[in-house]
Amino acid sequence: MIKGDTKVHSLYGSPVAHSLSPVIFNTIFQKLSLNRAYVPFEVSRENLKQAVEAARTLGFDGFNITMPHKTAVLEMLDRVDKNAEESGAVNTVATTKSGLVGYNTDGEGAIRAIRSYGFEPNNKRILVLGAGGAALALVHRLSSENNNIRILNRTLDKARLIANNATGIGRVSCEELTKSNLEQGMENADLLVNTTPIRTSTLVSRLKIPINTIKDTGWIFDLAYDQPAEPVPIGRGTISPLEMLLHQAALSYEIWLNETAPFDLMRSSLADYLGKDWR
Ligand SMILES: NC(=O)c1ccc[n+]([C@@H]2O[C@H](COP(=O)([O-])OP(=O)(O)OC[C@H]3O[C@@H](n4cnc5c(N)ncnc54)[C@H](OP(=O)(O)O)[C@@H]3O)[C@@H](O)[C@H]2O)c1
Repeated sequence: MIKGDTKVHSLYGSPVAHSLSPVIFNTIFQKLSLNRAYVPFEVSRENLKQAVEAARTLGFDGFNITMPHKTAVLEMLDRVDKNAEESGAVNTVATTKSGLVGYNTDGEGAIRAIRSYGFEPNNKRILVLGAGGAALALVHRLSSENNNIRILNRTLDKARLIANNATGIGRVSCEELTKSNLEQGMENADLLVNTTPIRTSTLVSRLKIPINTIKDTGWIFDLAYDQPAEPVPIGRGTISPLEMLLHQAALSYEIWLNETAPFDLMRSSLADYLGKDWR
């Protein structure tokens, strides 16, 4: 129950209606009798600054940032931790005595999700589609290992920025997202990480690549979870975006509450809500 002293967390993004983060957080807050609530807000680019100031004024006890604001929010915070600063994107903000502090849990959340399927992202050829906020964090984390990463994006300049900023030991290159680049990239990839909001089979069909091509590629990891299941079996295996959603949420919980997250409870809460497990 929301009371006078309930601590409030929020999510800022556009769109947010599909987000499952409120389900995960509000269910565990209730199950653990924590006097906290998590509220999503649709926030446009123009209103982001005001929304961040509102979180400050109203004393929100930390909030998440989702597409398309993960980079824009950086300059609105009082401090950004090293990992978020290096990746150039923030998805978690903590309210501290010294102000609003930005973190990024997407990269580590993604790695934990990938590893949970037994795939070790080291010495691998990784194809990344998209170059937005999620890609910034993922490439930063994946390039800290000895991987060969190739980014394909509709807007080449954004992919270039990520490739140029990568400071890890991995090699990062970039090209435009075209039919031939995607076809060739899929042929060689051990892992395809699709960070666009469009699922891989849809991108492939839009570029007129035969749908069967994706059966022969490596592991496929679509980040968007507001899409129906893939119509055909794809890749060597599929990594569920819900696994990453849980891991990055658990890391946000740990930043906000400074205690180990109840990961199993978060997982069962989401599975109960969806009426099925995704693995
Ligand atoms: N599962 C999880 O835990 C998790 C975590 C983070 C994000 N996500 C999901 O990942 C997706 C991306 O998030 P984000 O924060 O990175 O978003 P973002 O900053 O808006 O970036 C989106 C990227 O996708 C590309 N894109 C968009 N529409 C496209 C299209 N029709 N065809 C080809 N490319 C397209 C954009 O290309 P341009 O650069 O050319 O605009 C951009 O590079 C969202 O669906 C988000 O919900 C999931």
